[in-house]
Amino acid sequence: RSGTTYTNPPSNPTQGLKRPRNDAGNKVTVVLGAQWGDEGKGKVVDLLATESDLVCRCQGGNNAGHTVVVEGKEYDFHLLPSGIINPKSICVIGNGVVIHLPGLFEEAENNEKKGLKGWEKRLIVSDRAHLVFDFHQVVDGIQETQRQATEGKIIGTTKKGIGPTYASKASRIGLRVCDLLGDFKEFSTKFKNLVEQYQSMYSSLTVDTESQLKKLKEYGERLRPMVRDGVYYMYEALHGPPKKILVEGANAALLDIDFGTYPFVTSSNCTVGGACTGLGIPPLNIGEVYGVSKAYTTRVGIGAFPTEQLNATGELLQTRGHEVGVTAGRKRRCGWLDLVILRYAHMINGFTAIALTKLDILDVLDEIKVGMAYKINGKRIPHFPADMELLHKVEVEYETFPGWKSDTSAARKWNDLPQKAQNYIRFVESHIGVPIKWVGVGKSRECMIQMF
Ligand SMILES: *[C@@H]1O[C@H](CO)[C@@H](O)[C@H](O)[C@H]1NC(C)=O
Ligand SMILES: *[C@@H]1O[C@H](CO)[C@@H](O)[C@H](O)[C@H]1NC(C)=O
Repeated sequence: RSGTTYTNPPSNPTQGLKRPRNDAGNKVTVVLGAQWGDEGKGKVVDLLATESDLVCRCQGGNNAGHTVVVEGKEYDFHLLPSGIINPKSICVIGNGVVIHLPGLFEEAENNEKKGLKGWEKRLIVSDRAHLVFDFHQVVDGIQETQRQATEGKIIGTTKKGIGPTYASKASRIGLRVCDLLGDFKEFSTKFKNLVEQYQSMYSSLTVDTESQLKKLKEYGERLRPMVRDGVYYMYEALHGPPKKILVEGANAALLDIDFGTYPFVTSSNCTVGGACTGLGIPPLNIGEVYGVSKAYTTRVGIGAFPTEQLNATGELLQTRGHEVGVTAGRKRRCGWLDLVILRYAHMINGFTAIALTKLDILDVLDEIKVGMAYKINGKRIPHFPADMELLHKVEVEYETFPGWKSDTSAARKWNDLPQKAQNYIRFVESHIGVPIKWVGVGKSRECMIQMF
């Protein structure tokens, strides 16, 4: 085997490594979704990215979507860390991410048209990241059709092939960036074997192997200059000169493969552990962990949603909040803020602070409710249920607040917010048990009120 030709930079590969407990090195700041996604993580990341040297993705693929508004221009990010719009940040796509190469280049080119510059020189891709192939996307669609036929319901995936790619990874038949950049003959053989395996499972699957391989070879060469050994790269970043490092979570706690509302979840780890496994960094290097939550709750696709409001309230949140998915254009379901969920997400992630976004969407409501606890047969249950049948049946105990009925979108500091809005925020803060560091009242950077 000819081996790969890209270079890693272990300054001295034989030198003893620094012992983490004596010299923990730089800390990473992690931003995570605390609900079912679409909380506005991009806005928090954008605030922090302007001062970050390194912005990393650790899981998921182009199934997530962030919109970031800078100087009136809306950028859409799915696979690229949204820190890429900051010309001073280096961005890392870690080993835990799955990469659809045509999607990556298309996304970069679309953002280039809006003004993104020099991304190719600022993007680092782990050689251990798994590749999403076009046929994984086709299989994603076939699986959804089969679920509809056999169970009468779908998961509501974005059909971006993420689930099938993580399945290939777990089945030890997946192909990684290092395979693509190694001996191409060997890669071609493995690719053909993979296609055959999938065709034996899905008889309707047709793949033009030769044309796929031709395209993959081209994409591989475009990617090559960006590829590094992710472990060494992160190690050097952690133990070199002081650096601000940011990890941008995709998806969210309740979509986590282990802790989310299974099976209506994504196929990766969207909770804090994913930052370690998806980048190859020790837990000791995790610093701040910011949870992002809307001031209400939304969910895309099907699955239990205890605080959902299937009436005028839900519709109002949907329209005022422009609750339509960035990736698949689907309308999001809407309901009240659910503190059971946020406390559960906090137990797993150990948030050091919260960003509460889209408060302004609540501006016109007469009254605002907050889900406090779940009850079954009139009795409070002590935990967030794993069993979805149970979650469907829970009755939510609410606290009701008077609405502030005034426009908060121009507020730029805490004191600009009406007293009733402040009360709402303080209540939420004390019932999660985590300080709220930012309150969002609009789309742009200036609309994130920083509290401390
Ligand atoms: C997520 O974490 C679990 C538990 O550590 C692990 O078994 C699984 O492989 C991880 N999944 C992915 C996609 O990284
Ligand atoms: C709105 O719908 C939810 C259930 O979807 C229900 O619990 C709630 O009482 C309704 N609110 C009003 C004002 O009708």
